[in-house]
Amino acid sequence: MTETKVRKQYDRLAAIYDQRWSNYIANTLSFLKSWVQISPSDVVLDIACGTGEFERLILIEQPMQQMVGVDISDKMLLMAKQKCCNYPNVSFYNAPASVLPFASNSFDVVISASSFHYFDEPDAALAEMKRVLKPDGKLVILDWCRDYLLCQICDIILKVFDPAYKQCYSQAEFHQLLTSAGFNICRANKVRFGLIWGLMVATASC
Ligand SMILES: C[S@@+](CC[C@H](N)C(=O)[O-])C[C@H]1O[C@@H](n2cnc3c(N)ncnc32)[C@H](O)[C@@H]1O
Repeated sequence: MTETKVRKQYDRLAAIYDQRWSNYIANTLSFLKSWVQISPSDVVLDIACGTGEFERLILIEQPMQQMVGVDISDKMLLMAKQKCCNYPNVSFYNAPASVLPFASNSFDVVISASSFHYFDEPDAALAEMKRVLKPDGKLVILDWCRDYLLCQICDIILKVFDPAYKQCYSQAEFHQLLTSAGFNICRANKVRFGLIWGLMVATASC
């Protein structure tokens, strides 16, 4: 189980996370925001929400948007709660991706950014995402893609040196996981951010 190690790592990083990764966060989450196309009536769940930066990006434009973020790091969640404390319809919970504390068919949109490579049990996480999505809801996952050479190198190095890291997937492996979980892939792409980061994104329906 890497979950305890992830929690400890992000509890340690929380206070400096936004500053240390400011360019990466700004680029990936503004890309995700325009890819997802959230409508004002959507109820949105962000899995592994971190410091709540995606919520902040949406809420500065749609202050009444209904949003829920979950993460396993209390310290990351604390940053998220402080950042979004003036918005009435956003809430944050400590929960792992594989056991979501929500009723079935609750959300119009489920998103997850830059986190799938940490999940111990990707199949269980996808099953939970499917369960909490409304039948006409959509899932959008953005994560590192092992099709890029630098991501392959990072994958090898992190597996050796970072005890919190699980693995990143090729786009084919990622799509196979989505399909096996019963999702239909509606739209997908690979995208580069700067020299190092190669990511993939997919929108899937139930
Ligand atoms: C790289 S940060 C990404 C945060 C945010 N999504 C963003 O794009 O800024 C990864 C986050 O995933 C969370 N995380 C990792 N594994 C998790 C799991 N199994 N369940 C819930 N959150 C998890 C970590 O605590 C951390 O906050």
